[in-house]
Amino acid sequence: VPRPTGASPFVGRQDELGRLLRCLDEARSSRGQLALIAGEPGIGKTRLLTELAERAGAAGWVVLHGRGYDVEGLPPYLPFTEALRDYIRAAPLEDLRSQLDEAGPEVSLIAPDLRRRLPDLAIAPVASSAEQRYQLFESVCDFLLGIPGRQETRGLLCLLDDLHWADGPSLLLLNHLARRLSDAPLLVVGAYRTVDLNRVSPLTNLLGELRRENIGERVLVGPLSTPELSTLVEGLTGHRPASTFVDAIARQTDGNPFFIGEIVRHLIAEGRFLAEEEAASVSSVPEGVREVITRRLARLAPATHELLLTAAVLGEGFGFEQLRTAVGVEVPEWELLNALEEALDAGMLRESADGFQFGHALIRRTLYDGMSGPRRQRLHLRAAEAIERTERGNLGPRVAELSVHYRLAGPLANPATAIDYAVRAGEAAEAIFAFEEAVLHCTGSLPWNPWSVRAPRRNSEHVFSSGWLPRNSSER
Ligand SMILES: Nc1ncnc2c1ncn2[C@@H]1O[C@H](COP(=O)(O)OP(=O)(O)OP(=O)(O)O)[C@@H](O)[C@H]1O
Ligand SMILES: [Mg+2]
Repeated sequence: VPRPTGASPFVGRQDELGRLLRCLDEARSSRGQLALIAGEPGIGKTRLLTELAERAGAAGWVVLHGRGYDVEGLPPYLPFTEALRDYIRAAPLEDLRSQLDEAGPEVSLIAPDLRRRLPDLAIAPVASSAEQRYQLFESVCDFLLGIPGRQETRGLLCLLDDLHWADGPSLLLLNHLARRLSDAPLLVVGAYRTVDLNRVSPLTNLLGELRRENIGERVLVGPLSTPELSTLVEGLTGHRPASTFVDAIARQTDGNPFFIGEIVRHLIAEGRFLAEEEAASVSSVPEGVREVITRRLARLAPATHELLLTAAVLGEGFGFEQLRTAVGVEVPEWELLNALEEALDAGMLRESADGFQFGHALIRRTLYDGMSGPRRQRLHLRAAEAIERTERGNLGPRVAELSVHYRLAGPLANPATAIDYAVRAGEAAEAIFAFEEAVLHCTGSLPWNPWSVRAPRRNSEHVFSSGWLPRNSSER
């Protein structure tokens, strides 16, 4: 029986990668710019970023990564905070000092690691105003633009993935940065889902504005061709697939690599993979991405499925202690570990130095959307309590997350607690000039909605060509 190997071999995408590599060349001659990769979920945007990052890293570029998350209540500017984190942790202190000049206190507002490395940094002014936000943006841009000035670097490649989930303030900062690249050895590459955008998404505004001013190189990622699909299946299974099988999969998946991978794993798990003669009979292949994920989940032990539901509410990534606490003491530890390992083996979760992540955002989304409302509320309450217990004494950075969990716990949450966190989260956002986020926290916690300025509904409206239709979404 063929086994799914870890990462699939990279297939196709020569045009797309070629265009990005040309942007990199341009940036090397100090003609930096913004490139934007767009496509439907699972089509291969992140993979394209990863391949670009590997090539740039090998050629001596500094590569920074940040991303948006399919979770509310994360700190504003998180994509930039993440992108700066690795650099700030690793850069020699002299470099940091010389790059920062007076900008340090401001940059440290969105990159708290800076203060850890340079404890004598002055405190940034507290009063909050549009001018100060402008100053913050300028300082962050100056800092980024200073990175490639160090010797032995070719330039700076800054990757910002999943921008459809980025907070409004991050996108304003990106907009600011995009205008400062033209004479710098800095390439910024963003990626976003075309189908997660609705008219109120902050990204829609940014894209419209960039398009009007003709800023940015667009790279649209489309379906894999049938021969590429065949190569991908062969890479995943180690066997050359029959052409009838390839054709059936191509019809079914519209050449979406995530969907193809999930179907192959599903068929392998069912022991149906796939003697040549059987190949034509792929009639009971799942119809859509959601369905194939649901079927793969159904093969797992009930305890594993339950663990994944809890995890889906915790977020895209979580630590073991947080999971342990959220699952509750009624589940013995060995049972939890077995379930965790089964989820890892099935590729539903991945383990990294920071803890655990979902194998793909679409897996988490399927679990989350498939839950009943009451279960979701209970799990949000548990998630909030788990954070309070495991992070006791250092709740500050988590108040926004807590505010969201308590809000989504609905009637199960103590209203005073929910409002308290919402106010603290709003104040914390305001303190770093993330006014849009501050408003969302404060209005989101109210049982009515006076100004109807809610967070844009995420994920409720995609029409994913391969059947990603959340018909049962009870989020609304
Ligand atoms: N060109 C490719 N060759 C081989 N595998 C690929 C290719 N493109 C994508 N994949 C695989 O398909 C899966 C989905 O790709 P990826 O995560 O990059 O999609 P995405 O467009 O970023 O989706 P999302 O919008 O959900 O973030 C991954 O496992 C990835 O490794
Ligand atoms: Mg992605």
